[in-house]
Amino acid sequence: MPNPQYDRPRVFVSRRLPEVGLKAIRGACEATVWPSRMPPNREELIRSVKGCMGIVSLLSDRIDGEVMEAAGPNLRVISNYAVGVNNIDLAEAVRRGISVGNTPGVLTDATADMAVGLLIAAARCIRPAAEEVRRGAWKTWEPTGWLGCDIAGRTLGIIGMGRIGQAFATRMAMGWNMNILYTSRTQKELHGVPFSTWVSLEELLSASDFVSIHVDLNDETRGLIGRRELGLMKPTAILVNTSRGEIIDQDALADALACGKLFAAGLDVTTPEPINPDHPLVGMYNCVITPHIASATVRSRDMMAEICAHNLIAGVFGEPLRAAVC
Ligand code: NAP
Ligand code: GLV
Ligand code: GLV
Repeated sequence: MPNPQYDRPRVFVSRRLPEVGLKAIRGACEATVWPSRMPPNREELIRSVKGCMGIVSLLSDRIDGEVMEAAGPNLRVISNYAVGVNNIDLAEAVRRGISVGNTPGVLTDATADMAVGLLIAAARCIRPAAEEVRRGAWKTWEPTGWLGCDIAGRTLGIIGMGRIGQAFATRMAMGWNMNILYTSRTQKELHGVPFSTWVSLEELLSASDFVSIHVDLNDETRGLIGRRELGLMKPTAILVNTSRGEIIDQDALADALACGKLFAAGLDVTTPEPINPDHPLVGMYNCVITPHIASATVRSRDMMAEICAHNLIAGVFGEPLRAAVC
């Protein structure tokens, strides 16, 4: 009699996903789920994937040729629990005929909402003002205390007009009547985003009151915002990043914020993650940093888990993934 335990594909899941995803995976596969809150280290990852047909990875797991090699010739699919796939060596996966899946769309609204939150927090000094209250240092209502920037009717530059860039632009154009400039590799037919104009990166940086980054991390976007680019921005401008930390030169950003070349920044992503607590950005009153939580809503994370499980299961059974990167 065949033993179903042995007929089911073996997979490694690199962290506890929301239950809806784990349940689906366990229903179809023989799954080893990494039990700890912290990621497996390199050695543990390499040991854990041995002989697996499928891997569920997180953005904090680097999945390169060495990991694929360690998994062995049975590996058919890598299902990333994220929309960004910069942690995976895609060229190597293609070369080995391994499918890669991600979780697009279901976290677009949550991430765009977080960009709104960071933009407002940075513009209105919410972090240092709230900290003053926590410290018991709130003294009185001051006519010129905690002065921030107006948002309504001003110019917003979007770097990377993809799903999240468009969702964010729509919010800010409709809700705050902002004038939208954007850069993307290709000019877009934007039906949902009123008042938007495609411009060069240089023009966007010099003309915008707010700049928000929504590109994926790739060879062209790594270090896209360096000292020169920050120097093109208005000293009153605000920079928001919910994409990937590596897009910005963080030391250059800290210098710009420290010497008044930029008003404030709101970052959900840093490099590395977590950011070194001694980095100057961490203590700056005009920089608000959140720990990469833009997709962290119950609904988004559940839907990501569903797509991630679906991609994994389809991949191990040789079927097309619901959301395939390659
Ligand atoms: P998407 O729809 O693929 O959008 C990415 C956009 O970046 C595309 O419009 C693309 O332009 C543009 N782009 C890529 N390279 C570029 C370049 N060199 N110059 C100009 N534009 C470039 O992806 P998405 O779903 O919106 O997600 C975007 C990124 O957000 C993800 O890759 C991930 O890194 C990040 N993210 C972070 C969180 C978080 O928790 N903080 C959550 C979700 C996503 P074209 O359309 O012209 O190719
Ligand atoms: C989160 O950063 C994602 O790429 O999904
Ligand atoms: C402030 O609270 C005001 O009433 O203007």
